[in-house]
Amino acid sequence: MLKQLDQIQETALAGLAGVQDESSLEAWRVAHLGRSAPLMGVFDQLSRLPKDERPAIGRRANQVRRLLEAAQAEKAVALRSTALRRSLESGRLDVTLPGRLVGRGRLHPSTQTLRRMMRIFSEMGFQVYRTREVETDEFNFQLLNFPPHHPAREMQDSFYLAASDPENPLVLRTQTSPGQITFMRELSARCPHNPPPVRVILPGMVFRYEQTDATHEVQFNQLEGLAVGQDITFSDLKGTLSDFARRMFGQAVRTRFRPSYFPFTEPSADLDVGCFLCGGQGCPVCGSNGWLEVLGCGMVHPTVLRNGGYDPHEYTGFAFGIGPERVAMLYYRAEDIRSFWANEMRFLEQS
Ligand code: DAH
Repeated sequence: MLKQLDQIQETALAGLAGVQDESSLEAWRVAHLGRSAPLMGVFDQLSRLPKDERPAIGRRANQVRRLLEAAQAEKAVALRSTALRRSLESGRLDVTLPGRLVGRGRLHPSTQTLRRMMRIFSEMGFQVYRTREVETDEFNFQLLNFPPHHPAREMQDSFYLAASDPENPLVLRTQTSPGQITFMRELSARCPHNPPPVRVILPGMVFRYEQTDATHEVQFNQLEGLAVGQDITFSDLKGTLSDFARRMFGQAVRTRFRPSYFPFTEPSADLDVGCFLCGGQGCPVCGSNGWLEVLGCGMVHPTVLRNGGYDPHEYTGFAFGIGPERVAMLYYRAEDIRSFWANEMRFLEQS
């Protein structure tokens, strides 16, 4: 039996010498160290051997097993290092190839435009104030001088929340103008007899129940502005907004104020700027008349001042509302306002 063990060892080692890869090494292990290997047959027979032969044969069998296991481990290491050497020799790494570009994030064109506008007004001393997106009918309309059934409500189709008070339903704000009331009330409640002057801008999203098309969306941003104090006049409005237009569109830009109508301002105006694409010659963007409408504005209506807690005999003010997407469309020559919220990377990456 000792001879048989010598034989087993010899055959196994001879077989191992021919092993070239990991899968044949595994086959070798199964054949020579697995459950049905001849070596295991020797272990199985041990108990049936005469007692005096058992120790020597057992010892030798264990020795063969350890030797084969060690040989297997050594072969595994050798195979792995051969494989590594081969791959290093055959593979070529070209370190001069350009790296893969990491896609850089950027701010949304609306955010960029809104921030430029906010920076300009901040430099003029306006503070930023944010108010809620879900308003009551009272704040969104009534306190701004749109009584129930007033025809001016037709200008702003609204999303009402179904399960709210029919007398004063909740509405997704259709304009940032209700923030004027919220802000004035906050200050006038703090100082009921002598509320401080106000210079504030109110940025944020507004919502309209619209049939969408290239110039109508169900949501867009607005930047509202409000200045209230003693002796504020229409020329303050004109000066501030003309200066804004110059800072926004360039020093050479021409401006014009056109009479308009909003229930919460009197008088009201729209501000046009000379088309900066064609220099006022007329082009497809300005509808060939050379002017682009950029905002609505006016002197705050006495009723609105009163609703904010300011005495209209003592205070006057002006207000304005700008649509950043509209300005961004002019800026980036975008043709469809729906592109802003369509998550089209090709559109968003242009700005
Ligand atoms: N709230 C108006 C709208 O959504 C925009 C506007 C016009 C705001 C004139 C104003 C303003 O503050 O004075 O159409």
